[in-house]
This record gives sequence, C-alpha cells and structure tokens, in this order.
Amino acid sequence: QNVFRRELVDVQGIPLFWSIAEEWSKIESFEARPDDLLISTYPKSGTTWISEILDLIYNNGDADKCKRDAIYNRVPFMELVIPGIISGVEQLKNMQSPRLVKTHLPVQLLPYSFWKNDCKMIYVARNAKDVAVSYYYFYQMAKLHPEPGTWEEFLDKFMTGKVSFGSWYDHVKGWWEKKKDYRILYLFYEDMKENPKCGIQKLLKFLEKDMPEEIVNKILYHSSFDVMKQNPSANYTTMGKEEMDHSVSPFMRKGISGDWKNQFTVAQYEKFEEDYKKKMRGSTLQFRSEI
Ligand code: PPS
Repeated sequence: QNVFRRELVDVQGIPLFWSIAEEWSKIESFEARPDDLLISTYPKSGTTWISEILDLIYNNGDADKCKRDAIYNRVPFMELVIPGIISGVEQLKNMQSPRLVKTHLPVQLLPYSFWKNDCKMIYVARNAKDVAVSYYYFYQMAKLHPEPGTWEEFLDKFMTGKVSFGSWYDHVKGWWEKKKDYRILYLFYEDMKENPKCGIQKLLKFLEKDMPEEIVNKILYHSSFDVMKQNPSANYTTMGKEEMDHSVSPFMRKGISGDWKNQFTVAQYEKFEEDYKKKMRGSTLQFRSEI
C-alpha cells in the first residue's frame, strides 16, 4: 500500500500519521537530554521560522553555518516517521548536544523525559483562522496527510479536531497551562510578525545569552520570510517530491497575518467565531483580536 495519503490513526485520543502511531512506543520513551531546547507548536504556527532563528542564535548569526543542512536535519522533528526516509528519534539519537528539537505533540503526549529533565521549551502559537488556512494548503502539498477535501470540509475537520495532531484549541490551551510549572517561553506568531527583533530579544533573554546588536540584525535579516523562502536549507524544497509537492503550494506560502480574510466566507467566519468562543471559554489565553 502507498505510504502516503493514508488515514490518521488515533493515539490516546489524538489523530496522528499512521507511521507515528506504529512507532509510538519508541517515541514515548524518547530520551531527552537536560540541555535540549524543545520547539513546540501546533502545525503551521511558525515552527520553521523559530527553528531558523534559534539555529542562527546557536551559531552566533553565522548564516553559512546554518546552510550546512536542511532545517529538518538541523532541528529534527522528534515524532516524525516516514518509513525508509525519516525517523526523528533516530536522527536525534545520533545528534550532538546541544540539540534543538521540534515537536507538534499536544502537551499530554510529550515524552516524560522532557519534564523529568526540566528542559527549556519554546511554544509558538498562531491565530486559529490563519493556522486553519495554512494547514489546508499544507495538507494538499505534504502527502503524508490524508486528502483534505474541500476547504469547507477541511474547516469542519479543523474545528472538530479531526486533523493531524488534533484540536488546535486543546493544543494552545494545554501548553499555556503547563507554562505555570515548567520553563516554557510562550510566543505568538503575530507578535513576531509585528516586531521580530523584539521576538529575537525575548528568545535571547530566555536562553540567557547576550548578543551584539550587529549579530541580532544579521539574524533578523536571515530569518525574514523573503530570505528564508529563497534559502534551500530553510524552505523545504530539498524534500522529495513524493513527500512535498511545492508546485501544489509552496511550503513558504505567504508568511503573513490575516490571510484567513482571503479564504473564509462570511458565513464560515461567523460560525467559526461562535464556536471559538465556546471552545476557548474559561481560559486566560488570549489572541490579538484585530487579526
Ligand atoms: S510546520 O509544517 O508545521 O512545521 O509549519 P510551520 O513552520 O509551523 O508553519 C509554516 C507557516 O509559517 C510561515 N513562515 C513564516 N512566516 C513569517 N516569517 C518567516 N520567516 C516564516 N517562515 C515560514 C509559512 O509561510 C507558513 O505560513 P503560511 O500562512 O502558509 O504562509
């Protein structure tokens, strides 16, 4: 059977790629190291952007060093399994410390060793409507996902959490709650867009690193959307066409806030907002309302 476009499989209530479900026990027992830095996000929330910034920080702004390999090798995606091609767990086993580790797991599925080792974690959240739109295009181009159906159908799946990595609502709220007890820096894509320099400074502070202004400016430049879009080490064009077809939709698609306005109908917007209020009620987590 073709390994692509297969249905998602339930792992402890969360729909995941079938290949992740098959390897679940190996992922669950992943051994984090105390100096690992975890980059955690719901899909399509700015993972690659933050990963590039952090690799640039780890390499003192040396953009050439950050071209040593593709982003998915510099910052392995811990739970990803593409049979015969990628195993995040294996990649990380062979990697020298300090490691940057990417995950999309909801907080309750994160391997216990990250909590036990009190690893620093960076969570990036992006507003739900833009995530839904970005995810819809990603489902089309990244073939490990099942077929997304029409936009209307996909939006319904998104709202009911029947997409890969489950409910956006539970994901952002779950990680927000954990922040009370663990070393988690919680960032927003929209704030990063508005003031990326301030975002980089927050990261530096969290990492207890000082950096001359000149290097910060270099990092700012090399992590901008336009520069990353042209950089084969950051834009995922080095992945095989079987896994990702950029002619369907590029991985570096638009990189803006508020693109949902080009996708949602008025009726979809109204339904979404009403449902959103119900799902987010009772949480102190707030997204910027103007976007
Ligand atoms: S993934 O597959 O879950 O890891 O995707 P992720 O990297 O989280 O999200 C992809 C979206 O982030 C946009 N992007 C950026 N925006 C601003 N600046 C920079 N540098 C940047 N790099 C990636 C990317 O274009 C996707 O968003 P959309 O809205 O689809 O353009």
